[in-house]
Amino acid sequence: MISIIGAGRVGSAVGFLAASTALDDIVLVNSTKNKAIGEALDITNAIPEGSPISVIGTDEFELIRDSKVVIISASKGKITTNRTDLLAANVPLAREIAQKIRKYNDNAKIVIVTNPLDIVTYTVLKETGFQRESVIGMGSSLDSSRFRYLLAKSLGVNQSEIDGIVMGEHGDSMVPIFSNAKYDKKPVLNRLDQNEIARIREELRNYWKLLKTFKEASVFGAAKNAFDIAKAIVRDEQLQIPASVLLEGEYGLSDVCLGVPVTIGKSGVAKIDKLDLDWTELKSLNDSAEIIRNNIIKIKN
Ligand code: 2OP
Repeated sequence: MISIIGAGRVGSAVGFLAASTALDDIVLVNSTKNKAIGEALDITNAIPEGSPISVIGTDEFELIRDSKVVIISASKGKITTNRTDLLAANVPLAREIAQKIRKYNDNAKIVIVTNPLDIVTYTVLKETGFQRESVIGMGSSLDSSRFRYLLAKSLGVNQSEIDGIVMGEHGDSMVPIFSNAKYDKKPVLNRLDQNEIARIREELRNYWKLLKTFKEASVFGAAKNAFDIAKAIVRDEQLQIPASVLLEGEYGLSDVCLGVPVTIGKSGVAKIDKLDLDWTELKSLNDSAEIIRNNIIKIKN
């Protein structure tokens, strides 16, 4: 079973992906019960014929009891210019949800989608007291999808031929790892000049803002990347993606959650992977960690 806390657009889209691929039984929890019931009634019709899974919509938190994975996509506010706009509204909400998860299911692996992503991940980790392997923030894999799209567009090639990841904050200080990005297995840096690199960096940082000028908010990218993490846990896939986890010395950083390459399987984070970064990227990762830490200090006070 998987549970999704927050049956808004992203939570419902995760539910749809999970149902249509018959991943597992699904519990959709929402504070407005009718919203959860409505989405569940709709999503149920996406279950493939012959699949035994079910979808339940509820406001009763205790139904998460048997879930392997709990996805937190609930949010109380709207982002205007910065994801940290949501700090004051969503950190208390995350605390409340974390306490309920600890009460009803202290075995669950938790996937965070709620912004500000890295701070909510840190909050949920501390509030549940779970091991760091069990709390995973989905952010950098979404940023990485966008990075690959922008690289492909710049190079005029198909996205499928691009490798590339983004680390750090799911926010303005995110760090695209150009030194390791590849087109057709060869470094992209051979084909991009400094102006193009600066432009891609800027477009990547502002991707969600551009998207918001056409559509109220991003939905499908976030949902697919969260679904992939849940699926990797349910099916023990050993999926390698960047995600926000608590660091304990990796990349020279501690006591902060931010996006790093990890391997995900049934135990949650099976491994934090080591990627060689150049010194400017390492410096940017440090700066990104500092920005997240400063926000963590704000929520502690
Ligand atoms: C996104 O990057 C807003 O965090 C959300 O689309």
